[in-house]
Amino acid sequence: MSRKALIAANWKMFKTPAEAKAFVDAFLPLVAGHDRDKIALFPSPVLLPTVIAAAKGSKVAIGAQNIHFAEEGAFTGETSVGQLKAVGGTHTLIGHSERRQYFGETDEIVNKKLHTALKHGLVPVVCVGEVLAERESGKTADVLKKQIAGAFAGITAEAAAPIVIAYEPVWAIGTGKTATPEIAVDAHKIIRAEVAKLLGPAVAAGIRILYGGSVKPDNAKTLIGQEEIDGALVGGASLKPDSFAAIVKY
Ligand code: PGA
Repeated sequence: MSRKALIAANWKMFKTPAEAKAFVDAFLPLVAGHDRDKIALFPSPVLLPTVIAAAKGSKVAIGAQNIHFAEEGAFTGETSVGQLKAVGGTHTLIGHSERRQYFGETDEIVNKKLHTALKHGLVPVVCVGEVLAERESGKTADVLKKQIAGAFAGITAEAAAPIVIAYEPVWAIGTGKTATPEIAVDAHKIIRAEVAKLLGPAVAAGIRILYGGSVKPDNAKTLIGQEEIDGALVGGASLKPDSFAAIVKY
């Protein structure tokens, strides 16, 4: 089964609305006519209306970096799926390692968010990955399986089609250390096998697994070019239009 790749920009807590608009205005002409892969931008919530307006009419999808699992309520500082959809967002990251590390997101919270995202028809990008100590002590496979099983609890094969997984080894995020293609491919195989165990081979064969962690224009091809790697989630190198466009067009 051929999987259409997704090349996604995680802008984290960067850019003002003016900077975000300038990015989109410069970026769209650079990727005009690119339809080999789907492209998505994940800006901060306050930038969403600006970025969505600027990208209108293009094929670039826009999503949130985080959603709350509740429909609405007294959750100061959070963004609901309804709010995201009302401004035109179609995708969301879930369980990024920075959310897990700094904001206490557990596999259980990730699972609740995944249910909410699917219920409302969003494309969820569920992030998993091991920290350095886990890799060095040989626990990578166990960590990935636990994160996948936790995230997917109660998700049926029928509901799973839109789900995208991002494998992001935490030791490679923002560090300039990229996983070798072999390390990434091995991890992707572990993840795909776990999805097969939980939801069957058809879902596993169709699910897109992105690699994230210091993806740059000069290493994009060796990573995304691998059969097992269905795209990239890009942080630092997605902040400049020419650099992100170069990754898209690797
Ligand atoms: P990086 O971030 O490309 O800056 O390593 C990736 C991510 O955190 O999604």
